[in-house]
Amino acid sequence: MGNLNKKTVENLDVKGKKVLVRCDFNVKMENGVITSDKRIVAALPTIKYLIENGAKVILCSHLGRPKGEFNPEFSMKPVAECLAGYLGQEVKLAADVVGESAQALAAELKDGEVMLLENVRFEAGETKNCPELSKKFASLAELFVSDAFGTVHRAHASTAGVAAYLPSAVGFLIQKELEVMGGALENPVRPLVAVLGGAKVSDKIGVIENLIEKCDTIIIGGGMAYTFFKALGNEVGTSICENDKLDLARELMAKARAKGVNFLLPVDNVIGKEYKCDTPFMRIYSDSIPDGWMGLDIGKTTQELFAKSIQGAGTVIWNGPMGVSEWENFAAGTTAVAQAIADSGSISIIGGGDSAAAIKKLGFADKMTHISTGGGASLEFLEGKELPGIACISEK
Ligand code: 3PG
Repeated sequence: MGNLNKKTVENLDVKGKKVLVRCDFNVKMENGVITSDKRIVAALPTIKYLIENGAKVILCSHLGRPKGEFNPEFSMKPVAECLAGYLGQEVKLAADVVGESAQALAAELKDGEVMLLENVRFEAGETKNCPELSKKFASLAELFVSDAFGTVHRAHASTAGVAAYLPSAVGFLIQKELEVMGGALENPVRPLVAVLGGAKVSDKIGVIENLIEKCDTIIIGGGMAYTFFKALGNEVGTSICENDKLDLARELMAKARAKGVNFLLPVDNVIGKEYKCDTPFMRIYSDSIPDGWMGLDIGKTTQELFAKSIQGAGTVIWNGPMGVSEWENFAAGTTAVAQAIADSGSISIIGGGDSAAAIKKLGFADKMTHISTGGGASLEFLEGKELPGIACISEK
């Protein structure tokens, strides 16, 4: 695990120093109100450590995808207020990202005080990883801490570029994500079972390829199962299916076979007439889907088959729903997998996004070993890809 050779915040002498911390405060919002502050809470250990150790803390993050200019809809104001509540102290919000307001606030900052820059994506150079912008970020501070795990797969000015101009380290959140997920991949308690769902094989090719090298069992559910069905010569009706990925699906299954990896596909399915929450539906005991029907969830027998495998696991990694889990009639497969993981007593790692939402909704969050704060980032980590927001940090 090369990534763990990176300097951590504890390797920096932060007392009296201005420390720029890239967080991922890209929280869910509705009508200007934060609906999940999970990512803010996850950033607190590093921020509190810096406050307690007398640093001048300059936080920054993106929120949503504004198009390189100021847009009040994407202001960090609600984040600053939420953070202030958790920290029990003021969080000064700059009116800009690296402009006069940010510079003035940073210059006045006292030891143990905290400020937050405006949304880094209000600067057009952010997503282009523009060196001029990276230098401006660097000019605000003396040290840089990368702790935005959810955004480490982006090579942007505030996630990666800035590290070229300041001494740098990773924060506690990144450290924890890497230790837990890296440990599960490199030195797992076996059997190591991966449960992969979601709509498309193309989104998960890299993950499946990497996990075939490491797992004992790979369980496939969700829309991507139908590409595998078709690759095996079955009918898939109107199910989502990537016809240009059939050869690839066959290659992946052959590779799994050659490596002795159990590769489990659904054996029964819940099928619907249309892609609608209230469409007529039924369960079929077959991996062939009749004409005019589409697979929308795994069936009961499959739930039991998958649960059995999960219950025997030492470590489970789960990424992606088993069906259209946001619709009640097609949520049972995802619920059954979540329940099986919660009951399994295994080391359980949930890779962001929809699976994390399902676990939370069902009230199983406390039973999981680790729920990653990264959606795309945790996928790229599971693919074994280099993550720019970590690669840029100094080695120990
Ligand atoms: C996420 O929510 O996955 C991260 O914050 C990254 O956001 P992005 O996909 O807009 O870069």
